[in-house]
Amino acid sequence: MEDLNCIVYVSSAIRPLAVPELEALLVSARQFNDEVGVTGVLLYHDGTFFQYFEGPTEGVTQVYARIRASRSHHAIYELLNTKIKARLFPNWLMGASNVTSSLLLNLARAEWHASIQQVADLPEVPNEGLALLTSYWKSCGYGP
Ligand SMILES: Cc1cc2nc3c(=O)[nH]c(=O)nc-3n(C[C@H](O)[C@H](O)[C@H](O)COP(=O)(O)O)c2cc1C
Repeated sequence: MEDLNCIVYVSSAIRPLAVPELEALLVSARQFNDEVGVTGVLLYHDGTFFQYFEGPTEGVTQVYARIRASRSHHAIYELLNTKIKARLFPNWLMGASNVTSSLLLNLARAEWHASIQQVADLPEVPNEGLALLTSYWKSCGYGP
């Protein structure tokens, strides 16, 4: 079985990003993610980022290093860093969405540390944060 890992964090943009800047960031991110087999989603609201990414442990480690080295944001606060059995966003090199502040707040406050050993058995995700994230993504009509 593939050795999969996921990481979830929130961070603060150094300054509010204009749409073209966010798009440029995503182009660079998706290109690298494609090379190392990483998928996930990035949510943004008024200077706050929330990101979930997943993939082979090696790829996730490399992406995390790029993210932490980025001067576009700071105050990276890790919510989850764990092994998973299956991908939640297999079709998204890095999906992106502008969201409300209340969704970001709810995601940041959700329980993330409960076991996610059963992630393969979706939609029964036994983790409040992941359940909230996947149900938001589905509600947008984006699917997995
Ligand atoms: C919120 C955020 C999310 C990012 N996500 C990814 C990612 O998924 N994959 C990746 O390779 N790089 C990611 N990066 C890094 C950027 O693609 C890019 O390398 C970086 O923004 C360029 O460096 P700079 O921001 O210091 O100019 C991310 C950066 C930020 C700020």
